[in-house]
Amino acid sequence: MMKKSILLLLCMTIPVVASAAGGAYIGEPANTNIRSQSSLQKGAKTFMNYCMGCHTMQFQRYNRVAEDLGLTEDEMMESLVLTDAKFTDKMTNAMSKEHGEQWFGKAPPDLTVIAKARGVDWLYNFLINYYVDPSRPSGWNNATFPNTSMPHVLWELQGIRKANYNEEVDAEGNSHAELTGFETVEEGQLSEEAYKDLVRDLVNFLDYSSEPAQLIRMSYAPWVLLFTALFTFFAYLLKVNYFRDIH
Ligand code: HEC
Repeated sequence: MMKKSILLLLCMTIPVVASAAGGAYIGEPANTNIRSQSSLQKGAKTFMNYCMGCHTMQFQRYNRVAEDLGLTEDEMMESLVLTDAKFTDKMTNAMSKEHGEQWFGKAPPDLTVIAKARGVDWLYNFLINYYVDPSRPSGWNNATFPNTSMPHVLWELQGIRKANYNEEVDAEGNSHAELTGFETVEEGQLSEEAYKDLVRDLVNFLDYSSEPAQLIRMSYAPWVLLFTALFTFFAYLLKVNYFRDIH
């Protein structure tokens, strides 16, 4: 019995260690909630404030987002849209692909469907797992997206952290670095929890954007359940009725 539970414990810890040692470190799930309109609104605001300088969302229009997120035209244009874009415009920016490549070595990709490509957990971890690394051109590195050319654009909010790696040399003489944790070098404007909430809302917005129809599907869900329940009930009554005389 004892042996079994030790074995079980071991099995539970192995995947954690393995994922930390591999390339993309995923430390915790995003836990986004696409049904929370206030979370989506906050996420949209963060996106327009901090991401649209470099990234576009070219398959989305401001008016569509406003409608889906329950914002009026005034709310959208006054508190979210920071450029001179029009309400019906696509969510683009002024950066050309060439300039992006020139400045960062890699052009910032369009983010409309990034949540489909990467998944919410990857996105969430990417945005919380930056650390300082003087060997990188931007001064930043990332445990989830190693050697990315995107700088830590939210560093004032999160603060500055460094990563601790455990270097181990195996029998063949290859060294492996395993992430053991982060250490705060300088506090940011937000507490750790508040920063994670901000990133969670932002990722929630990216998830919505990758498939706006999710919201519609969600709003149908209670009706589908109700229909199924009613249908089952009537089917049951029918069955009782049919089989009453057969025994
Ligand atoms: C200063 C410019 C800049 C800003 C601002 C910026 N990014 Fe980036 N981003 C980049 C660059 C450059 C890349 C390409 C990185 C690479 O491939 O190594 C990138 C890549 C990404 C990727 C990875 C795409 C992929 O799968 O390859 C995601 C996700 C992303 N950015 C999200 C964001 C979010 C969310 C924000 C706002 C908080 C943001 N970015 C703000 C420059 C920027």
